[in-house]
Amino acid sequence: MSTNPITPIKKVAISTGGGDAPGLNAVIRAAALSALKRGWEVYGVLDGFHGILSPEEYPDGGFVPLTRHKVRGITHLGGTILGTSNRNNPMRYPVTRPDGTIEEVDRTDEIVRGFRMHHIDALITVGGDGSLAIADVLSKKGLRLIAVPKTIDNDLDKTDVTFGFDTAVSFATDALDRLHSTAASHGRVMVVEVMGRYAGWIALHSGLAGSADVILIPEHPYDIHRVVEKIQDREQRGSKFTIVVVAEGASPKGGGISVIEKEAGRAERLGGVGEKVAAEIHAISGKETRVVVLGHLLRGGSPTSFDRLTALRFGAAAVRGLEEGQSGVMVALDPPHVKYVPIEEAIGKMKMVPMESDIVRTARDLGISFG
Ligand code: F6P
Repeated sequence: MSTNPITPIKKVAISTGGGDAPGLNAVIRAAALSALKRGWEVYGVLDGFHGILSPEEYPDGGFVPLTRHKVRGITHLGGTILGTSNRNNPMRYPVTRPDGTIEEVDRTDEIVRGFRMHHIDALITVGGDGSLAIADVLSKKGLRLIAVPKTIDNDLDKTDVTFGFDTAVSFATDALDRLHSTAASHGRVMVVEVMGRYAGWIALHSGLAGSADVILIPEHPYDIHRVVEKIQDREQRGSKFTIVVVAEGASPKGGGISVIEKEAGRAERLGGVGEKVAAEIHAISGKETRVVVLGHLLRGGSPTSFDRLTALRFGAAAVRGLEEGQSGVMVALDPPHVKYVPIEEAIGKMKMVPMESDIVRTARDLGISFG
């Protein structure tokens, strides 16, 4: 973290990177309006940092002026009007060599040069763990910036919560409510796979709120036999159906996570654990099972009012922080306050579900199994 001598800002840029999350547009609107109010010019970088690294691919050069008109009526919209990308990480940018091999190169210097070329005084960069690591490097290379944390997974440390999480949990809870009646009618096991690469926050919160019977999360490798025991126990008590929520990053005891593909310059794609769990339940218990993968539905739609408020507060706080001379920091929610924490500290570790936390104990008290 550094506190720059407070040089006045004339031109600020905003970028959104990584997987999208409901609330990104609210951040953009709040940051743009707060900056415009101070007389700053505001620009949006398109598609993460792609707009600055490959401006020739855009008719207007990868940079768009963000006027009041451009950010009007977007608080309630999912996605991001600037576009985003979770491939081609500029720290490990994949370049295909003439012999077909792929080499990963560091293009962060080009980003710093690109912003200087456009006379951008400061950057507000919105993103998850990958984007925060990039922001940390850019800031250490001299770019004045403030990061805004974003992920539906809620696994970023040093902030109580990230926007997008509440929307994802609300959607998953609604899906669980709907699945109860059909699971009960057919006497089936319904396995619902939700996002959550490293942390099981979405599975835990939606599973508890949506009355799941089993919740499988990355923090607690599961034993499929314990899952089956829970199903059979329910059968004996007269409940012929069971709802299992599984986070995509959950893994069996002694086994690995389910990966769909690994591509250079991006995090591996996860998926398939729901099918695996369902197949094993069927094989061991003979119960009919069905799988529902909520996947990207969790990232879409209109942000809840909680996520809108968090996002608006983060966007406005980023501008206030820059004005005060902050740089190399991330805005964070520490209820009831929004504060600034060094990016370096925030990317040190992921925020995992503590198995001894009140919410896990509540779930256990209600008879929910963690496998
Ligand atoms: O934002 C994080 C996340 O939602 C993870 O839970 C998930 O593994 C990943 O994004 C999926 O990203 P993609 O858009 O590349 O499929």
